[in-house]
Amino acid sequence: MKITSLFVAVMLTLFQTTFSFAGEKEELIGKSLFMRYCAQCHGKNGTGKGINTKSIVMDPAPKDLCDIEQPYMNKKENGLLIEFIKFGGKKVTASHSLMPYWDKTLSEYEIFTLAAFIRTLHKHDQPPVDFSNANKEKPKITISQIDVESATQADIKAGKRIYKENGCIGCHAVKIFGGVSGPNLSGVGNRLNAQQIWKIIKYPSSVKPDSKMPAYDINDEDGISLVTYMLSLKRG
Ligand code: HEC
Ligand code: HEC
Repeated sequence: MKITSLFVAVMLTLFQTTFSFAGEKEELIGKSLFMRYCAQCHGKNGTGKGINTKSIVMDPAPKDLCDIEQPYMNKKENGLLIEFIKFGGKKVTASHSLMPYWDKTLSEYEIFTLAAFIRTLHKHDQPPVDFSNANKEKPKITISQIDVESATQADIKAGKRIYKENGCIGCHAVKIFGGVSGPNLSGVGNRLNAQQIWKIIKYPSSVKPDSKMPAYDINDEDGISLVTYMLSLKRG
């Protein structure tokens, strides 16, 4: 009897070191990341009624991650769940989704912990999230120097389009229309200079370590237009 249980214990340890599955520790890490980054749209309890949804109609709306009205998340395989968080709604479903991509903000490991936490919100038969290949390295971000001296009216127009395409409106209002978890951007051109704005867009946590804003993978050319548009938002 004793030998059998020892054998089982040894086998279990071997198994766990080969395949490391989500435990309570990972779910807790995922929960705290969720409260910082995701609750602003998905709500603290994950039902999809975060603060941003009170001031802007999102279509499609943030999914109810708790499957209260209809089962949906329970059928989603772990791989697809993780892909959606990494790459965002637009890339995965080609819709006008306001679900941002998080792979420039979070490590793969952190994204896996979010998936593990989300699994605790609904009933399902999916296997536990497998952490054995999850990379813990944070995304590397370099911030170029941008020059907006020779920017034109055409850049403002292009910048407006880039603002829209990237879903900034999910969290920010310009004047009255948009989300409210981020500051209203009317007058941002009075508060910040070009390089400060660019730094926030590319690498928000380098400016504010507990930032709720995702990092954006925007190239310099689009960056010049987007920043020029931001600078054009002045008060008075
Ligand atoms: C700006 C608002 C916003 C934020 C912030 C946000 N989401 Fe979403 N999320 C959405 C919207 C909108 C949808 C619905 C998108 C769609 O169906 O294309 C969605 C859908 C999802 C889905 C459902 C995927 C599916 O298969 O349909 C998951 C899972 C999810 N989000 C996880 C997260 C996680 C994790 C975070 C934080 C790291 C997060 N979201 C942050 C708006 C947001
Ligand atoms: C998921 C929500 C979210 C999204 C999406 C988002 N932001 Fe933000 N943003 C924030 C929050 C929250 C802050 C306030 C500081 C912080 O927490 O980083 C902020 C701060 C800023 C600031 C500084 C404003 C000030 O007055 O200090 C700028 C500029 C900005 N964001 C631009 C953008 C642009 C451009 C996009 C789209 C490419 C974008 N944001 C997308 C949440 C978001």
